[in-house]
Amino acid sequence: MLILFLILIHNIHLVSGNSVHQTPADMYKNPNETATLRCLHTISTYNRILWYKQSQGGQLQLLGYMWGSRPTLEANVSATLDGSADENKNCTLTIEKLQQDSNAVYFCAASLHSVIYGCFSAQKPHHHT
Ligand SMILES: *[C@@H]1O[C@H](CO)[C@@H](O)[C@H](O)[C@H]1NC(C)=O
Ligand SMILES: *[C@@H]1O[C@H](CO)[C@@H](O)[C@H](O)[C@H]1NC(C)=O
Ligand SMILES: *[C@@H]1O[C@H](CO)[C@@H](O)[C@H](O)[C@H]1NC(C)=O
Repeated sequence: MLILFLILIHNIHLVSGNSVHQTPADMYKNPNETATLRCLHTISTYNRILWYKQSQGGQLQLLGYMWGSRPTLEANVSATLDGSADENKNCTLTIEKLQQDSNAVYFCAASLHSVIYGCFSAQKPHHHT
């Protein structure tokens, strides 16, 4: 059985020239393999990257976020966040031991403070102090 990652590419133009890039666009993996997804943005004032998973039922789940180079994962999310959410840095989401329920669309979005810019609406992350 194959696990399909469909990674939506968000080109969120807030101010001309600013955007969020996600790679790769899609990925096929076998169960128990490891998937690594990358997200990078070019917005100098933004320092947070949020990761979401949308399962086939359509439910959107916040997996966690990177603030600067400080990762925060939601409870029960078995994944790893690495890298940095600063401008022009790779933020990577690594999911080990893939399961059939890893089949999903994964989103990343960049934000400043608790404001989230994206092509979808979702619950706000907990504000971390
Ligand atoms: C995945 O790993 C678990 C534990 O190591 C093993 O029991 C299972 O058979 C593996 N599944 C596949 C599809 O390889
Ligand atoms: C985490 O998983 C456990 C066991 O499945 C469940 O009881 C608990 O409610 C979950 N917690 C959250 C925050 O989803
Ligand atoms: C981000 O990762 C990609 C793929 O590994 C790599 O080609 C690129 O150079 C990296 N960018 C930065 C700024 O590290």
